[in-house]
Amino acid sequence: MLSADENRALTEVGRGTRMGQLLRRYWMPFLAAAELTQSTKAVRLLGEDLVVFRDGSGRYGLVERSCPHRGADLSLGVVQGNGLRCVYHGWCFDAAGACIEQPFERIAHPTAKDKVRAVAYPVVEKAGLLWAYLGPAPAPLVPDWDFFHDVGYKQIVLAEAPCNWVQCQENSIDPVHFEWLHLRWSEAQGAGGRPPKPHAEIAFEEAPHGFTYRRQWEGGSPTDELWTIGRVCLWPNALYTGFCEWRVPVDDTHTRLIAWFNVPLPGDEPFLQERIPCWTTPTHHPDGRPITSHVLNQDLITWIGQGRLADRSREHLGEGDRGVVMLRRKLFEQAQLVADGGEPMAVFRDPARNQRVSLPRAGRALEHPFGRFGKYIAETIAYGQPVELASDIERVWYERRPRRQP
Ligand code: FES
Ligand SMILES: [Fe+2]
Repeated sequence: MLSADENRALTEVGRGTRMGQLLRRYWMPFLAAAELTQSTKAVRLLGEDLVVFRDGSGRYGLVERSCPHRGADLSLGVVQGNGLRCVYHGWCFDAAGACIEQPFERIAHPTAKDKVRAVAYPVVEKAGLLWAYLGPAPAPLVPDWDFFHDVGYKQIVLAEAPCNWVQCQENSIDPVHFEWLHLRWSEAQGAGGRPPKPHAEIAFEEAPHGFTYRRQWEGGSPTDELWTIGRVCLWPNALYTGFCEWRVPVDDTHTRLIAWFNVPLPGDEPFLQERIPCWTTPTHHPDGRPITSHVLNQDLITWIGQGRLADRSREHLGEGDRGVVMLRRKLFEQAQLVADGGEPMAVFRDPARNQRVSLPRAGRALEHPFGRFGKYIAETIAYGQPVELASDIERVWYERRPRRQP
């Protein structure tokens, strides 16, 4: 249970807030690169309204959406050469936020543009995602997770949740919900399969990557990988279970779910995708009914049901919530560290230690390279995978399938 003040301190993400300052020490994935289909796109991240664009040299820019001249919407701007030109009076800003042209002003005040800057943040494209860093310089490195290099067919699933990010991330360290929200609720809705077993034991521990949580099912063995290896609550805002889900704070009451999947393919040859495809899973059917059939959708609808901002002054925590308590304590501790001028945990700065960084991964042996995993996402994990994508995954798999020697 938290007081109303503590709850606010835990959940605020804006610039100048304690947790907002902590989150700004990490690169945040905020868009699938495939979503940038126009020259500009308006985005909102950590409570800031921004515009992402790609200049003539292919460099990404992320600048404040409100033009520094008189506030016109820069997402309407036109990309020209190395800049984004405001449609109102033609001022032009480069990816670093420098004002590189003031068409009329240059006659009377040729150097005035040098005094104007748009707020701008660095952007890196990695693993089919655009990542932004909204913190103080020098920017650290975007983590080079080992799973980004897995051979397979990658896809990105997106969702928008009208609620605060912390309640989404608390779900990343909550083993018991898996049994109830996913297994038992699916069973209650008529999904087939073996009836789920209850949890017999759970454990949590801190790790350099955040936290690991472990579980043993009733009748299970202490040698099961879900106990010996466990699952990863990835600091500061993701869950890694062989695929990765980031809970990206849009603002205090909106979160973007970015889920990154790799469908294993036969063979060791890399499978090159010019663009990793992305699609959005909805939270509700067109008639307003919540979507309750798939794992991500069950999570989403539950987070939304907790309210825009879960009221932690009314909760009753139990043994199963030990991980949630650890996560909150760590967030407060690390926010204080940043406020005191320190460097928080899990920031990558040394390139030698940021190469294919591996994370604990239970159940890897079950991720068969036989194409079924593609269907598994569509049938079990996220509602609404486009049919063309499913058939493309199947096509690629059959092209690469191991052939019997004659
Ligand atoms: S408001 Fe953008 S150039 Fe005037
Ligand atoms: Fe879940």
